[in-house]
Amino acid sequence: MKLLVSSIKLPNGTILQNRIAKSAMSENMGTLQNAPTRNLIKAYEVWSKGGSGLLITGNVMIDSRALGEPRNVVVEDRSNFKLLQDWAKSCEGTGTHIWPQLNHPGRQAFAAINRKVVAPSAVSLKMGAASGMFKKPTPLSEDAIWDIIIRFGNTAKIMQDAGFTGCQIHGAHGYLVSQFLSPLSNTRKDKWGGTLENRMRFVIEIYREIRAQVGKEYPIGIKINSADFQRGGFTEEESMEVIRILSKEGIDMLEISGGTYEKPAMVGYKQKKTTQEREAYFLDYIEKARKITTKPLMLTGGFRTVTVMEKALVDGNLDIVGLARPFCLYPELAQDIFSKKIEGFVTPLPTLGIKIIDKMGGIELSWYELQIHRLGKGKRPKKQMSGLLAFWFNIKSMFLKSFIKNN
Ligand SMILES: Cc1cc2nc3c(=O)[nH]c(=O)nc-3n(C[C@H](O)[C@H](O)[C@H](O)COP(=O)(O)O)c2cc1C
Repeated sequence: MKLLVSSIKLPNGTILQNRIAKSAMSENMGTLQNAPTRNLIKAYEVWSKGGSGLLITGNVMIDSRALGEPRNVVVEDRSNFKLLQDWAKSCEGTGTHIWPQLNHPGRQAFAAINRKVVAPSAVSLKMGAASGMFKKPTPLSEDAIWDIIIRFGNTAKIMQDAGFTGCQIHGAHGYLVSQFLSPLSNTRKDKWGGTLENRMRFVIEIYREIRAQVGKEYPIGIKINSADFQRGGFTEEESMEVIRILSKEGIDMLEISGGTYEKPAMVGYKQKKTTQEREAYFLDYIEKARKITTKPLMLTGGFRTVTVMEKALVDGNLDIVGLARPFCLYPELAQDIFSKKIEGFVTPLPTLGIKIIDKMGGIELSWYELQIHRLGKGKRPKKQMSGLLAFWFNIKSMFLKSFIKNN
């Protein structure tokens, strides 16, 4: 466990106290007006006492007109600044860093809670029975693209001023940045589409805008897909090239994941049995990425045992171990590891028992979100929690948000 417990210095000088990071998990814990809540802050207080090096928040949306989930936190101005300050303060005195993950959902935005859905091109999501929950997106105009780029910078700046110690661009999982990168969702013929150089222009400009607003010293990371796992989509080779360019631009950390709503590889969906057993889903990719960048690499997806985490670090292909679902059930995860209390983390795959809904995969994320809600209420996680509860929470908040949208 020598490496897991060791600190790491990011290129800008920031020191993370160890190599364990909580990856972003949408908490769905904002108000229906998308402000942070006291319970959300409380959940981070619990996590910060758990001793990890870095907590990356669930995706914070940069535009109130574009929501991924009904209760996302949105930061587009300073109206909730005091709450943001308190959120950042949740880590004060613990040595744990806290970075918001900045996101725009693009076409991965439920129709029920968004009046208009925008994306690089008018290409609908193909999700079988669930496709009906999403609208065909309207292609973004040149002005609208620049507006979003500036919004990323503005949100990062507000969060910096509120006390967050870095930020991460959500460039993975089929959201807007990832939609620009993929030739399947980006069929534009202008300077934002076509060649890889054009498709990556959006993320590069977002990085530059954030850097211009937050300054040289502030850590900026990105979560990026190793690939979309879709025929004709964003490939591994293309992802490597984006990593190379972002590294040259000065990014401070790269978190590797993969997949989209259409192919949710990030949570292990349809990964080979051998890949799941090996734990780290995107290990093959990161081995190659290591050869093209010297920037700190974080790998997320599937890590469950301390032995595998430590070995991955010893092998030298990654610098930071990212975990998500285990943090919901083992909030003091880093301490549990360092005190040798826990050697492996069990993360169940909850279902509803209703085939059509289980097949759409809706229940798992909400079930883990509700575990975070328990932390926010000062309760312990409940491994036996019923899937029905998670389903009900989803329906209820979607319905209420939809009511607000339409009135
Ligand atoms: C409840 C839940 C919400 C998530 N929300 C986000 C998110 O907002 N942003 C993101 O990049 N990934 C999100 N993810 C994906 C995780 O960050 C992570 O990539 C994935 O769960 C694999 O890691 P794990 O095997 O350690 O859980 C979410 C996962 C879960 C379970």
